[in-house]
Amino acid sequence: VIRKNVREIQLSIRKISEKASEKEDCVRLDIGQPSFDTPQHVKEAARNFLDEKQGYTSTTGIQKLREKIAEEESMKSGVDVRPEEVMVTTGGMEAIFALFSSRLDEDDTLLVNDPSWGPYRLISAVNGNGVEQTQYFHNGELTEDVKEKAEKADMIAINSPSNPEGRVLSRDESRAIAELAEDKNCFLMTDEVYWRLTFDEEHQSPAAFNDNSALIGSVSKNHAMTGWRIGWIVDDSENIKEYAKVSRAMTAAPNKIGQLAAFEALDNSFHVGKMRDEYRKRRDYVVEQMKELGWGFTDPEGAIYAFPEVGKDSWEFAMEMIDEGVAVVPGEPFGSESDRSVRIAYGAAEMEELEKGFERLKKAV
Ligand SMILES: Cc1ncc(COP(=O)(O)O)c(C=O)c1O
Repeated sequence: VIRKNVREIQLSIRKISEKASEKEDCVRLDIGQPSFDTPQHVKEAARNFLDEKQGYTSTTGIQKLREKIAEEESMKSGVDVRPEEVMVTTGGMEAIFALFSSRLDEDDTLLVNDPSWGPYRLISAVNGNGVEQTQYFHNGELTEDVKEKAEKADMIAINSPSNPEGRVLSRDESRAIAELAEDKNCFLMTDEVYWRLTFDEEHQSPAAFNDNSALIGSVSKNHAMTGWRIGWIVDDSENIKEYAKVSRAMTAAPNKIGQLAAFEALDNSFHVGKMRDEYRKRRDYVVEQMKELGWGFTDPEGAIYAFPEVGKDSWEFAMEMIDEGVAVVPGEPFGSESDRSVRIAYGAAEMEELEKGFERLKKAV
């Protein structure tokens, strides 16, 4: 018998990608991954690394990568991170799974922002923990609802820059959410997989203001390496040993060649600036277009997404737009107030494609 938790999972967004892949000449703004391929120097390094023996690595990852990640995370958060406080995982996804399954029992509750990335709920469903969702901020201040819901929560998830809105927390907001978690005795998970992709202000890690927290990282988006499946989790070394038990049960270790490639990407990351500049151009274009369309939206300040309100049921809109030759993701699965919004992954399409997509949107709307 399939467990009820699993049976009831609806991978609803698949309907969009299935329909879009059947449509000829469809501009794909639905896929949450960079249009860029992995940088050449990373591929080149990986080719050379292939000459090494490709055996298992330690569950927590190869030492030189853990050292490199510790260096980057220390620089980013301003908190001294040591290599034994890092576990390399099979994407940020496994890091989040390891964290939830190590910390959240069936009667425990994870608090997520409204809207937020669907897999926090997907992973919770598989793990069996409860989820509450509410908007964390309004006009730069914590909402009354998040303060109330945090009372009963066991873990608070924060994600900046965010998927789907592209929202970047200010320093004050980062501090506020970190302090709320501390006040309410909640563990804080800070998902920073897009941290290098901010266009206006620098990323500020909430982990800098909270010791009882774990940080999630990944090379997927920042380095255009989604297919390599390398991410990590940062926490105290004692906690890392516990998370490693889950990782041991799931994958034994992340793939070695991916870890070696990730090392090169972090060690030699000049490519990030070029990609960020290009995303910024696309962001500026998308903002201008969304204004012309009269759509309301939260300012996209980072990551690779915009999340406008389109004034229509999000599923209907997304399905109709595929017929017009442009695919976006319905907002409904992201949150309770998002059923008239759609996610536009402008990072997934080159400028020319993006322009073609918006021409079609404008014609159809
Ligand atoms: C907010 C967020 N966190 C984590 C991930 C996980 O990425 P990966 O498993 O590719 O590292 C994603 C990917 O879409 C994401 O959008």
